[in-house]
Amino acid sequence: MTAPADLRRLVAEARAARGRAYAPYSRYRVGAALLTRRGGVYVGCNVENATYGATLCAERAAVAAMVVAGDAEPVACVVVTAGPSPGTPCGICRQVLAEFARDMQVLLVAEDDAGEITARSTQRLAALLPKAFRLRSVPRAPAAPRR
Ligand code: THU
Repeated sequence: MTAPADLRRLVAEARAARGRAYAPYSRYRVGAALLTRRGGVYVGCNVENATYGATLCAERAAVAAMVVAGDAEPVACVVVTAGPSPGTPCGICRQVLAEFARDMQVLLVAEDDAGEITARSTQRLAALLPKAFRLRSVPRAPAAPRR
């Protein structure tokens, strides 16, 4: 279990990241913060695009920040969205988080326009994404014959 002080720090970092979200199209701002086993903290916000489909979610931005810092093994992820109830990570973000940890604590926090926390919920990544895809679960194809 992640220590309460670490979770408090993650919530503060994710809320600050949410404040930097670039979401002119949906106006739905998201902030995320990851804690790794060795104590690294990495944040991300959603970055939207005029082509909509090129939009990057906050969770994946935080994963990219972790990877480029040379860190790995996330143990907790906080995601902050608008209230009244917290948003849940999209399917692609669940799969991307699962790439780096079979399981982690996922804390979802909602805040109102005044920055007050209105709701929170906590769950395990394995509950949000049972049976995540793993490449080694695919039977290896036989080698193609050499010509
Ligand atoms: N969004 C995230 O940042 N994370 C999620 O897990 C779900 C959705 C963003 C993408 C887009 O900028 C906005 O929320 C509305 O979909």
